[in-house]
Amino acid sequence: MSLGPQAQKNLEGKTILITGASAGIGEAIAREFVDATGGNIKLVLAARRVRRLAELGQQLGQSGAQVHLASLDVSDGANIDEFFASLPSEFQDIDVLVNNAGKALGIEHAGSIRDEDVEEMFATNVLGLIKMTQTVIRGMKEKNSGDIVQLGSIAGIESYPGGSIYCATKSAVRSFTQAVRKELINTKIRVMEIDPGAVETEFSLVRFGGDPEKAKKVYEGYEPLSAKDIAEVVVFNCSRRQNVVVAESLVFPTAQAGSYHRYRAQ
Ligand SMILES: NC(=O)c1ccc[n+]([C@@H]2O[C@H](COP(=O)([O-])OP(=O)(O)OC[C@H]3O[C@@H](n4cnc5c(N)ncnc54)[C@H](OP(=O)(O)O)[C@@H]3O)[C@@H](O)[C@H]2O)c1
Repeated sequence: MSLGPQAQKNLEGKTILITGASAGIGEAIAREFVDATGGNIKLVLAARRVRRLAELGQQLGQSGAQVHLASLDVSDGANIDEFFASLPSEFQDIDVLVNNAGKALGIEHAGSIRDEDVEEMFATNVLGLIKMTQTVIRGMKEKNSGDIVQLGSIAGIESYPGGSIYCATKSAVRSFTQAVRKELINTKIRVMEIDPGAVETEFSLVRFGGDPEKAKKVYEGYEPLSAKDIAEVVVFNCSRRQNVVVAESLVFPTAQAGSYHRYRAQ
């Protein structure tokens, strides 16, 4: 996406940390930041699948972007501490944190949901996001600037059957994010939440334990969003002048309204 010259300037030279950058929306956000700045940017790309990150890092590095790749499991608090402790000095001053890592597991109804799935969804989507935010916010407060971008979901606004835990995690993200935005009212730190509807990524593959047939069905009969659609919104929001906070962005494909769309978890 090409931004106007001022918007591009607003992003240039910044250090962007993206969790869950090995696939889907996170990967698309990394590509979009590079595209929008012509490579004049520093990226910290983190996820568990470092091999996937290596391919992406190699491609993005060709644009001139400075890229640091790191193994990170946000569901493991100790691992988050290790990740920050091992950040090279030139990548430590984070300007934009994109808390993107997240997942839904299964579509079971309450009473039949595996405890491990409940724990993994909360550990990743909520505890991980909170710890990442808390860690990065300290540096942002010191310099009185920075952007925090949270990947929420329509699921955090409107719950649906078969998504009780995932929806609860995204509601928690929303609630945490709103409070933090208010806490930072006397600073120049911006807190922004993006709430996508259905986006075709590996999300459904993960949700259905790697079953491609079940995953494909989620996107049948309508055109879902692409990861790039969401990445463009993230980069646009971050490129606004400092005094503008696009606090919440709810983004649907045209075949979706609220948590209802042409596919519904049964
Ligand atoms: N797709 C949708 O319809 C949709 C709609 C609304 C909101 N969202 C939200 O958008 C975000 C991105 O989802 P996506 O659609 O891009 O899904 P995706 O294609 O499955 O990508 C998820 C990313 O999160 C990473 N991740 C998962 N567990 C992690 C962990 N414990 N630690 C670090 N990274 C982890 C994955 O990397 P590794 O496996 O390599 O760690 C992957 O890079 C999520 O927060 C999701 O809830 C998605």
